[in-house]
Amino acid sequence: MTILIKIDPDAIETDKLRQAADIITGGGLVAFPTETVYGLGANAFDSKALEKIFKAKGRPQDNPLILHISEFEDIRRLTNEIPQMARKLSAAFWPGPMTLVMKKSDSVPYTATAGLDTVAIRMPSHPVAAALIRLAGVPVAAPSANISGAPSPTNADHVLYDLDGRIDAVVDSGSTNVGLESTVIDITGDRPVILRPGAVTREQIEELTAGLIEVASESASAGRSSGTPRSPGVKYRHYSPKASLMIIEGEPDRAAEAAAGIASKFMTAGKKTAVMATDETLDTYGGIPGVYSMGARSNPSIIAANIFSLLRKLDNFGYEVIIAESVEDKGLGAAIMNRMNKASGYNIIKA
Ligand code: TXA
Ligand code: MG
Repeated sequence: MTILIKIDPDAIETDKLRQAADIITGGGLVAFPTETVYGLGANAFDSKALEKIFKAKGRPQDNPLILHISEFEDIRRLTNEIPQMARKLSAAFWPGPMTLVMKKSDSVPYTATAGLDTVAIRMPSHPVAAALIRLAGVPVAAPSANISGAPSPTNADHVLYDLDGRIDAVVDSGSTNVGLESTVIDITGDRPVILRPGAVTREQIEELTAGLIEVASESASAGRSSGTPRSPGVKYRHYSPKASLMIIEGEPDRAAEAAAGIASKFMTAGKKTAVMATDETLDTYGGIPGVYSMGARSNPSIIAANIFSLLRKLDNFGYEVIIAESVEDKGLGAAIMNRMNKASGYNIIKA
């Protein structure tokens, strides 16, 4: 049985939330909202509880977890060396959608880091996440609260769809804000390296570090057996809907025309086909059925907040094929396209 605990983020009832914190300190699993996506939380110092996370999600053993803290000083429980870059980045972006990879201390179990000597740390800004971590009194390990490989959950219904009966509780505080997982930055080397793009953008980090930033090439290592990716998570199939997903790259009007043509062909061939379009291109599709907007290109944060939820919805509607327009690959758009391209298994067509 999975207990549902409803918490209003604007009026947090501490007594209700304490029930969730007690489950965590007691070695159980609690899904909870963060500003990015829902996480599946456990006591970061409890190896047995961490093993339950891997089991509940069907997560590969070699994919390490992010440990969540509620104040900067908690970092000392997880690492003995706080690099200058950690202070700089955290001053700018914590609490918020950014994860920093640093050297781990002995108190962090290898179950959390999947055997690595580094640890991923994040201080979320969601008031319910922060309150829960504070009440638990321990750093909370939390991957996204989905079955491994599925789109990340942006509300409690998504969590229950994947994990009902497999975890102890879900804290339901409505939909998450950002909709995409945090930016993961490795700061163990000379220069910070973005391992996973997110809402803290490359451009923002470049500005803060005077350009001293690298971006790990994911597509280069994704899906290949040779070469060790720097972030173990990147090599797995991710975010994928059950439908076969195709991404159409190119200037918006041309991409939309190409998407309409391809969608029509699939429909004629008898495939139940959906299109993920944008507000600006909706008109291009005329009367074709199954066209959904991801949001306006002029406001990528809405698209980011919508895409995982839209992918899940289209699956539930039983679509076999999804054709999606790409958006501009910069700023938040880089994170959006990272998830979309991965979800498609790099099934990308240039219009
Ligand atoms: O926004 C988020 O980050 C959400 C919320 C719940 O905080 N969490 C999340 O966790 O997305 P997960 O497990 O789905 O993704 C964690 C990513 C994986 O790509 C993993 O490989 C990487 O972080 N990671 C964790 N520890 C690492 C380490 N020591 N070195 C390199 N990458 C690491
Ligand atoms: Mg995940």
